[in-house]
Amino acid sequence: KRRVGVMTSGGDAPGMNGAVRAVVRMAIAKGCEAYGIYEGYEGLVQGGDMIKEMQWDDVRGFLSEGGTLIGTARCMAFMERAGRLKAAKNMVVRGMDALVICGGDGSLTGADKFRAEWSGLLEELVQTKELTPEQTAPFKHLNIVGLVGSIDNDMSSTDATIGCYSSLARICQSIDYIDATAFSHQRAFVIEVMGRHCGWLALMAGVSCGADFIFIPEKPPSEDWQNEMCKKVAKQRNMGKRKTIVIVAEGAHDQELHKITPDQVKDVLSKKLGLDTRITTLGHVQRGGNPCAYDRMLSTLQGAEAVNAVLEATPDTPSPVICIIENKIVRKPLLDAVALTKSVAEAIKAKDFAKAMQLRDAE
Ligand code: F6P
Repeated sequence: KRRVGVMTSGGDAPGMNGAVRAVVRMAIAKGCEAYGIYEGYEGLVQGGDMIKEMQWDDVRGFLSEGGTLIGTARCMAFMERAGRLKAAKNMVVRGMDALVICGGDGSLTGADKFRAEWSGLLEELVQTKELTPEQTAPFKHLNIVGLVGSIDNDMSSTDATIGCYSSLARICQSIDYIDATAFSHQRAFVIEVMGRHCGWLALMAGVSCGADFIFIPEKPPSEDWQNEMCKKVAKQRNMGKRKTIVIVAEGAHDQELHKITPDQVKDVLSKKLGLDTRITTLGHVQRGGNPCAYDRMLSTLQGAEAVNAVLEATPDTPSPVICIIENKIVRKPLLDAVALTKSVAEAIKAKDFAKAMQLRDAE
């Protein structure tokens, strides 16, 4: 029986449990054995109890749970070759030659590196007598399949990452709550949202909540942003609007980028417009809580497709990442997706925003 491992890695995202459930059940339905690797790469490096066979019933109830029930960790040991050697040994000892990883671009890059080194790792394990040639012989190739789990929606080659719509829903719900109190006191609120270097959550939250002004990393604020913002806000206030919402993406106050901080925005609104202004940093509430219907659906369809990709892989197939493009679940070469994501991030860092947009549009 083929043995397929599944893990979640990097920051948790709503829908990751749905992905684990789908991989486990699809693997079993296709006649394989499924293994849950706990605490991300940490579990793969440590082995033992951290790698457990999972049965159909073990993932019952996973679909609607937030976070990741099999844990995640930012694992330093896997960054070192010594850690990857241990991980390779654990996989061979457990008879696993396929790994489905649900995580962000960093986690997926690590996985492909592991695959590229695989035969070298096995050779070293034989040379150092950690494993025998007989043990490694059936495991010539490592199959890696990526699922993109992240609230940030920052991965190129897919329209939506698992978790981004749940997070967006949570942000909108939180802003609705803030709206009520803002309206009551005629206050302004500056709301900081997550997203790392990507402004998708901030932009879409702004559109969905009718924010007055939005700061995102991908668009430099004009030199005159203070006046521009005040003009817009004042116009709305003059039309009778009792509340003001300004959204600042965390990536917009990157010290090397636009340096727009919520404090700065608050000062401008209070001093120039005389508005009673508060700051709300939504924080990890954006990442927790149960997945919305879209993320349950996406993680289930993509988890099932990941197992198909494992079973159809040949030694020459590049590691795929499962994406959704124009509402279709598709496979894309993992390395291309990661490389494109990096190019976009680099263009933003270099303040070449036109190039960043071009790269995103070309996807
Ligand atoms: O990548 C998901 C994310 O929530 C980002 O939006 C945020 O920048 C980061 O992780 C926070 O990381 P941590 O939970 O380690 O503080």
